[in-house]
Amino acid sequence: MNAQLHPVPANDELDAFWMPYTANRQFKANPRLLARAEGMHYWTPDGRQVLDGVAGLWCVNAGHGRREITEAVTKQLSTMDFAPSFQMGHPIAFELANRLAAISPPGLDRVFFTNSGSESVDTALKMAIAYHRARGAGQKTRLIGREKGYHGVGFGGMSVGGIVNNRKIFGSSMLPGVDHLPHTLNIEHNAYSRGLPAWGAHLANELERLIGLHDASTIAAVIVEPISGSAGVILPPVGYLKRLREICDKNDILLIFDEVITGFGRIGKPFASLAFDVTPDLMASAKGLTNGAMPMGAVFAHRKIYDAVMQAPEGSIELFHGYTYSAHPASCAAALATLDIYTKEGLLTRAAAMSSQWENAVHSLRGLPHVVDIRNCGLIGAVELEPRAGKPGARAFEIFLKCFERGVMVRQTGDTIAMSPPLIIDAKQIAQLVDTLGSVIRETA
Ligand SMILES: Cc1ncc(COP(=O)(O)O)c(C=O)c1O
Repeated sequence: MNAQLHPVPANDELDAFWMPYTANRQFKANPRLLARAEGMHYWTPDGRQVLDGVAGLWCVNAGHGRREITEAVTKQLSTMDFAPSFQMGHPIAFELANRLAAISPPGLDRVFFTNSGSESVDTALKMAIAYHRARGAGQKTRLIGREKGYHGVGFGGMSVGGIVNNRKIFGSSMLPGVDHLPHTLNIEHNAYSRGLPAWGAHLANELERLIGLHDASTIAAVIVEPISGSAGVILPPVGYLKRLREICDKNDILLIFDEVITGFGRIGKPFASLAFDVTPDLMASAKGLTNGAMPMGAVFAHRKIYDAVMQAPEGSIELFHGYTYSAHPASCAAALATLDIYTKEGLLTRAAAMSSQWENAVHSLRGLPHVVDIRNCGLIGAVELEPRAGKPGARAFEIFLKCFERGVMVRQTGDTIAMSPPLIIDAKQIAQLVDTLGSVIRETA
């Protein structure tokens, strides 16, 4: 088996790769390499097995090494490696769009392909502005995001995002005309809520305050993650998303859900929108779309948005936007094979069946040293730790490292440990994940 693996880089061969969202110097001094993956596990180059508690990066929902996806991509690449989607088309793209439209929230049956979550977000923001302009409301250009929101790293997504470290360096280069709702994390009121917290629906009313400040006639869209992942798993209070929807409707403002992590079964329905019974006008997705095997994103647009933009003069390009690799044939093949697996194995709803077992397991960590909150929904869990004095994030980072040494991969953001395992996880693996994390927390000062 090891004979097939790529040679491990020597320590002096690590510098050329400027690693994303990584403490490069710290990592390169003590690299953590993954060499192989199958099912619920990774293996390090020296053959150590690591349970994947985060589905890679919230994307490998059907587990690793799915042969069906590999075969579909291989077949597609050997049939037709690339075809442009600008003024040309290829069949598999249309097939995939139809398959996605069939599982989309009501009315969101027009699908635009991108290559990542960041591109999906920027695409959705541009569609919102284009929609209003097409209806003769070209002054509606303002975008409303939310504190602690993460919408990727494009200038659009960064501007509507609300995580300070992503923003502070680029301060004066942000999009103009953006404002933010308050975030919904409140440990004082909601610590140890099981599922959605009861307190906080009224925070959606802050949108009315922003409308009072800017006027609805200037606002194109509000974008939120139904559940924020990157900021440390922030859940919407019961009724919050419905209230946002009502205020948007009353004021002719589009509602965009960023479902890059919640899409494709993470919380027990194909999309969080369906689980929470709130339908946005635009929905950004990526990650689980191809089970992480190929880079791909998709924006789901309500038909009213598509139809409005299609009013452009006959023969003209209606939306001047797209990517060379939009609907890349190999990514389309990966997505179709992924959807087949999701359907065959019931993975788009499995998280609902597993969620109470998961919830009990994750909440069993309550009472451990430095734990101040535990949050869960579907197959998402988070343990919030008290920060070390003057060293935010240090305790959680140490816990992440120790977990990895003990054969479990979790994710650390700030002082939160987040878990989002592949949706195929079984009871024994849930126990291993949570027990390992628990024993590491117990022994970390
Ligand atoms: C909610 C959300 N939006 C957008 C993104 C950006 O996706 P990508 O890294 O594929 O650009 C992420 C990535 O984690 C995300 O969680």
